[in-house]
Amino acid sequence: MQKLIIKGKKELSGKISISGSKNATLPILAASILASSVKVKNIPFVKDIFTMIELLNFIGLKTKLNKKKNFIEIYNSNKNINTLAPYKLVKTMRAGVLVLGSLLGKYGKAKVSLPGGCAIGTRPVDLHLFALKKLGAKIRIKDGYILAEAKNGLIGANISFPSISVGATENALIASFKARGTTILKNCAIEPEIKDLISFLKKLGANINLKGRTILIKESKIKKSRVNHQVIFDRIELGTYMIAGALLVKKDLMIDKIDTKIVKSEINILKKIGVKILQKKKSVIIKKSKKLKKINIATKPYPGFPTDLQAQLMVLLTQANGISKIREDIFENRFMHVPELKRMGAQIIIKEKTAIIKGPTKLTGAEVMATDLRASVSLVLAGMIAENRTIINRIYHLDRGYELLESKLKNCKAKIRRI
Ligand code: EPZ
Repeated sequence: MQKLIIKGKKELSGKISISGSKNATLPILAASILASSVKVKNIPFVKDIFTMIELLNFIGLKTKLNKKKNFIEIYNSNKNINTLAPYKLVKTMRAGVLVLGSLLGKYGKAKVSLPGGCAIGTRPVDLHLFALKKLGAKIRIKDGYILAEAKNGLIGANISFPSISVGATENALIASFKARGTTILKNCAIEPEIKDLISFLKKLGANINLKGRTILIKESKIKKSRVNHQVIFDRIELGTYMIAGALLVKKDLMIDKIDTKIVKSEINILKKIGVKILQKKKSVIIKKSKKLKKINIATKPYPGFPTDLQAQLMVLLTQANGISKIREDIFENRFMHVPELKRMGAQIIIKEKTAIIKGPTKLTGAEVMATDLRASVSLVLAGMIAENRTIINRIYHLDRGYELLESKLKNCKAKIRRI
């Protein structure tokens, strides 16, 4: 079991380039089942992407990965297709459930393992199934699997999501591409990753219109020719490194390969806390901040403050002056990092869905345990500002979503190594 050893209080300076978005790549890879030949560039080489590629191979697609240039080519000859997403692949990577929409849309049937819960919550898929049933699919749950069928194809429908779900919006979008007639999806998630999926589907020939939280999809033919797509940057990785800079920058921390108009709310919130950010279109420079101010905030669907940055923001707020509050409105159990941060000296109490953080507090290094992807990176941030040494266990959580984390931080003078 690998661990990370971090020596705290090493100031950062230098440059970090942001990788492609894991959460944009996953639905695009799932949707590539609809195509015959696809080239996806700027993908991050992280565990979840490799698991999704394994799933595509299991289903019967051919994939060619170019590790040096971060791209993948995917071919679907439609021969020996296995419309099954087995438990062993879906249990570690919940986004495996996203192949449901493409298998059902293209082959009229799919057997996909229920993803099961994870550290941050039960993570049901009822909204995914609600949408697919509206499109005419017959759905049964048996032995932990979703058995979906649409013998005569899917039929366009008016679907209004009872609550906002990124994955359910993505599954419904992919499925309705192949549905007859017109589909209107209402109360959709509109994260940048979903807009990237829409631009990919449009290259595949889809006729899609996004207005507010409503998406209109008209029946269209899938292009036979090769489709090229470059995935957007990872806005959560960007937010994580902006917070690292806010905590430890010596002079300037430059972060590039981004598009700042996509992260307006995150940048505004960090500025409100007192983080000095020089912002250009494709890069930001984090400068030494003097005093950090307390803030009260709740996580929200895009364009609100993202739940995937909640744990990282909490570490920053342990260094802000006064009592801050973060309310987690998206997941029911996304405070697993709190007990670990408290072992490092953070003063945080949880009241129902709200974390109350007292700052500024001195953190001291400890041996801690990662529980989920974003919680683990908050422990890295805490270790970087703590006195002495921090050892982080179970860092396979980190490897699921952060490409080259240690080397990016080491290049900016952080003292971090993997054993
Ligand atoms: C996506 O997960 C992201 N994962 C998550 O990032 C992110 O935290 C989440 O969206 C919210 O932004 C990927 O894109 C691969 P949801 P998803 O469906 O689609 C409930 C990371 O760290 N819900 O928007 O699973 C659900 O339990 C990951 O990269 C239902 O009740 O999130 C949650 O409380 C973690 N029924 C809320 O909705 C459903 O059918 C939002 O979930 C689906 C979801």
